Amino acid sequence: MMLWLLLLQVWASCLWLGHSEVVTSFESSCPQFFFRETPPNEALEPENPAWICQRYNNQYFFATLYDRKERIPVYSAYIYEPGPGKRPQGWLVEPQLINDSLPQDMYTVQALERAYNITRAQIMQSQAVSADYENSGWDRGHLNPNGHHNTLASRNATFTLTNIVPMNKKLNRKAWKKYEQQTMRQKTKKCQTDKIYVIVGAVPGNSSIAGGRVNVPSHIWSGACCKTKNNTVSAWAAIANNKLNRIWKISLGQLEKRLGQLYGMQNVSLFHSDCPRNMSLTSWA
Ligand SMILES: *[C@@H]1O[C@H](CO)[C@@H](O)[C@H](O)[C@H]1NC(C)=O
Ligand SMILES: *[C@@H]1O[C@H](CO)[C@@H](O)[C@H](O)[C@H]1NC(C)=O
Ligand SMILES: *[C@@H]1O[C@H](CO)[C@@H](O)[C@H](O)[C@H]1NC(C)=O
Ligand SMILES: *[C@@H]1O[C@H](CO)[C@@H](O)[C@H](O)[C@H]1NC(C)=O
Ligand SMILES: *[C@@H]1O[C@H](CO)[C@@H](O)[C@H](O)[C@H]1NC(C)=O
Ligand SMILES: *[C@@H]1O[C@H](CO)[C@@H](O)[C@H](O)[C@H]1NC(C)=O
Ligand SMILES: *[C@@H]1O[C@H](CO)[C@@H](O)[C@H](O)[C@H]1NC(C)=O
Repeated sequence: MMLWLLLLQVWASCLWLGHSEVVTSFESSCPQFFFRETPPNEALEPENPAWICQRYNNQYFFATLYDRKERIPVYSAYIYEPGPGKRPQGWLVEPQLINDSLPQDMYTVQALERAYNITRAQIMQSQAVSADYENSGWDRGHLNPNGHHNTLASRNATFTLTNIVPMNKKLNRKAWKKYEQQTMRQKTKKCQTDKIYVIVGAVPGNSSIAGGRVNVPSHIWSGACCKTKNNTVSAWAAIANNKLNRIWKISLGQLEKRLGQLYGMQNVSLFHSDCPRNMSLTSWA
């Protein structure tokens, strides 16, 4: 009887939690978050990758390529649908990074420990937790930001730590925020709404927090591609050094070239070939 009550309580407390899923490829499981269903090529894949179709409330909300070794995302890909609303609270983790027999749900650490008898050590082995960032001097920077989504569930889903990197506080709160809010609004004016595809990524750096557990990225970048109201295709990009409060606005082609240099790869392709590589000129903001 006590056990049933306990199980019922656990079940009830987990009811609002959705799903999140480690898959073998984005193409087969959640291609809808990529322009023309085409994810980036393999150039940015880390040694120990996990492809996550981020699920919450029985719905996919975005896709994340995760670097298990550095415990940060390589990138998150999503559709830009900004809307007002309050910032959700509470951090989530990805159970399937621990063991793929665990549920697809995004869970809080506490709920996962209770419902599946998972230890804190097992969770921390597989991914970063909120405590890694506390007193680190770095912000928990969203790659896919909650402000680019217009429902409470989709905003909640961005609060999974698999979408978070250690970000320079000033950059996160000033220049990057301005890019997310103002530049994106202005750049997307000519786009068809609901057809704006964004990929935001982080380049692993040479330092870390939490005793070496979580990599501090050297750069944060963003690329976007949309179908315009005139049925043409438009694309733009930006990159920031994670040490500085400054954004470089560049073309998609320039971003791919810069990432090629940073990763030491020949051939970085972030979007379908229909996305123009040469639009917009270098400028400072
Ligand atoms: C995952 O969980 C299953 C079922 O509990 C277990 O048999 C398996 O050994 C686990 N795998 C790993 C890698 O821990
Ligand atoms: C929970 O897991 C621990 C080891 O990790 C084990 O000793 C304990 O018996 C488990 N409890 C339940 C209820 O399965
Ligand atoms: C969003 O998360 C909050 C907790 O931070 C929860 O109270 C709320 O029910 C969630 N909403 C949805 C739609 O999932
Ligand atoms: C990290 O270290 C490598 C090797 O020493 C060096 O080539 C690279 O430029 C460094 N990256 C940054 C961002 O400092
Ligand atoms: C789109 O079409 C409108 C009306 O035909 C035109 O005024 C505008 O310049 C076009 N925009 C682009 C980006 O081609
Ligand atoms: C670069 O990508 C193109 C198209 O995907 C491919 O044909 C070419 O072989 C690649 N080159 C290298 C050096 O990987
Ligand atoms: C971009 O490249 C295409 C194809 O090479 C060309 O037609 C177009 O004029 C270029 N646009 C700009 C802004 O340079």
